[in-house]
Amino acid sequence: MLGSFRAFTALATVASILVSRVDAIAKISRSGRYLYQDDGTRFYIKGIAYQEQGAVVESADNAFGEPSTFIDPLALPDACRRDLPFLQQLGVNTVRVYSVNSSLNHDDCMQTFSAAGIYTIIDLALPLNGSIDRVSPSWSTNILDQYIRTIDTFSKYDNVLAFNVGNEVVVQEATGVSPYVKAAARDIRAYLSSKSSSALVGYAAINGASTWRDALASYLTCDASGGNSDATAIDLYGLNDYEWCGDSSFESSYAGTTRNFANFNVAAYFSEFGCITSPPRLWTETQAIFSSQMSDVWSGGVAFSYFPASSVQGQFGMVTVDGNTVTTSDDFDRLRTQYNQASGPNSPARSSAATTFGSCPAESDTFAASTTIPPTPNEAACGCLQSTLSCRFTPQTSNYSAIAGELIGTACSLLGQQGGNCNDIGGNGTTGTYGRLSGCDPTVKLSFVMSQYYEINNRNPQSCSFSGNATVNSAAPSSASAANAAASSCISNPSATFTPSAPATTGGSGGSSGGGGSSNGGSSGGNNNSNGAVPLITDARALLGLGSMAAVGFASAFWVLV
Ligand SMILES: *[C@@H]1O[C@H](CO)[C@@H](O)[C@H](O)[C@H]1NC(C)=O
Ligand SMILES: *[C@@H]1O[C@H](CO)[C@@H](O)[C@H](O)[C@H]1NC(C)=O
Ligand SMILES: *[C@@H]1O[C@H](CO)[C@@H](O)[C@H](O)[C@H]1NC(C)=O
Ligand SMILES: *[C@@H]1O[C@H](CO)[C@@H](O)[C@H](O)[C@H]1NC(C)=O
Ligand SMILES: *[C@@H]1O[C@H](CO)[C@@H](O)[C@H](O)[C@H]1NC(C)=O
Ligand SMILES: *[C@@H]1O[C@H](CO)[C@@H](O)[C@H](O)[C@H]1NC(C)=O
Repeated sequence: MLGSFRAFTALATVASILVSRVDAIAKISRSGRYLYQDDGTRFYIKGIAYQEQGAVVESADNAFGEPSTFIDPLALPDACRRDLPFLQQLGVNTVRVYSVNSSLNHDDCMQTFSAAGIYTIIDLALPLNGSIDRVSPSWSTNILDQYIRTIDTFSKYDNVLAFNVGNEVVVQEATGVSPYVKAAARDIRAYLSSKSSSALVGYAAINGASTWRDALASYLTCDASGGNSDATAIDLYGLNDYEWCGDSSFESSYAGTTRNFANFNVAAYFSEFGCITSPPRLWTETQAIFSSQMSDVWSGGVAFSYFPASSVQGQFGMVTVDGNTVTTSDDFDRLRTQYNQASGPNSPARSSAATTFGSCPAESDTFAASTTIPPTPNEAACGCLQSTLSCRFTPQTSNYSAIAGELIGTACSLLGQQGGNCNDIGGNGTTGTYGRLSGCDPTVKLSFVMSQYYEINNRNPQSCSFSGNATVNSAAPSSASAANAAASSCISNPSATFTPSAPATTGGSGGSSGGGGSSNGGSSGGNNNSNGAVPLITDARALLGLGSMAAVGFASAFWVLV
């Protein structure tokens, strides 16, 4: 009942926007591995990355140069209006935005772009604690809720082409994180469907050796249940591809990659492109990308980047901005010339495009991802548990993401010394095993481990202190292994998958008490992987993701090694 009511109101909102617009932007949908407008015309993404770079803290822990802050470009109406003429000169029809803040208002920018025929690809992740962490991964309530809040904020606009569930999360050294990304795709697909949203579910992959890159692409577009269902698949695969430099040619750059994707089943595009190793950038690859040599596999791409962005490889960006003044570069002029000449073939016909969702690639040495994917994060079950635990995390600071990670490590280590373990909060995407609490917010996981430690020590008050970070819950049941019993009772079906619903309160405490909000709580904060984790660089073809905002690090090694 509630679900169908929600779907109705969502439809009504969209309808009223459409009615009030004379010349509404066309709805884009996927058929087979192609994108089409309502009228059956094939659609190609002629895009540009559109986000000012956040602060990058240079350190050995941050090999990818991932920003730790972000500026939401779609919440700055004056800037959107300032930039629109330049986006129009470039001839783009899509902007890709890496992180947005769901509590801000985006009406002005979204409507400005929509009226100009510009779609958006919205990445759902936020820097640091708002992404699936490739070092100690989980698909958990805090990230799901953040994704849902962003979808709720943006699904009312008619120009959202896709929501990306991750950017460069999976890398060669961490293919075991893939099941968490696939679980995110499954739950976000179900949620969008429950809202009658037509936005596509996307993922943007880092480039790398085809041994794991192609397996990941198949994995994200296969049916994990072994049938021919789209329920666990993405619709739109993005490859961040920087292969073409100078005045190259199809044969010497994109040909191999294109051949490898010849039998791909969903829409694919370059979610970032543009040379990063040998300037100047000529953008002649645009001709190849929109040519019939590539159009059977690729539906365009997103040039990186409108705003200046720097990495160890140099400085990229089409414009510089000073207040209201935009200054374009030669790079801008070259891309404008190329984009304005490019138009992909209007074939094949939509009626001939069909998709099958085959079985998933087998696990291998180069792609160690199980087809058993994590359950849907269960806010109600985790909230029930948190309210019942005997010793709970009560941070003295609102900035607790970093200490939560550290304390989980400490608490698991202490518990381990007394014969316990942290299996319930961990998980392993290679073996396809997920602890009962793996989908809970890190603060709930921490409270659970603290409670086990407290109970194993016969409720000695000293054992529920953690240097002042924990408090005894006097209302909790007093049995010997109460935490364990609470987990069994609250999380009665740990492997359940279901259509998630919006968090009860926007940014609220989501049922947890004492330990801070489980829907907005601290999570994998701190980008310190001084935990002995393998540094995640080294793939020769992985051109260090410039726009990458996937999370790094978590100051705790113990609990992932279950
Ligand atoms: C979103 O914006 C609000 C209001 O400015 C701010 O308080 C909050 O910290 C922002 N959230 C993020 C994740 O940046
Ligand atoms: C939060 O704590 C981390 C590490 O303790 C620190 O680096 C960061 O600046 C803090 N952030 C805020 C907003 O206080
Ligand atoms: C991430 O951490 C910041 C600062 O600690 C906090 O304001 C924000 O709510 C957190 N976001 C999530 C999704 O946990
Ligand atoms: C909480 O834990 C952190 C990390 O271990 C520690 O630095 C801090 O002193 C503890 N106590 C309080 C009151 O924050
Ligand atoms: C990471 O941890 C190491 C060792 O504990 C410490 O020296 C370093 O300052 C930390 N870096 C950050 C960014 O917190
Ligand atoms: C997951 O399990 C595999 C196989 O047992 C093991 O090699 C790997 O180290 C585990 N990964 C993590 C992150 O614990």
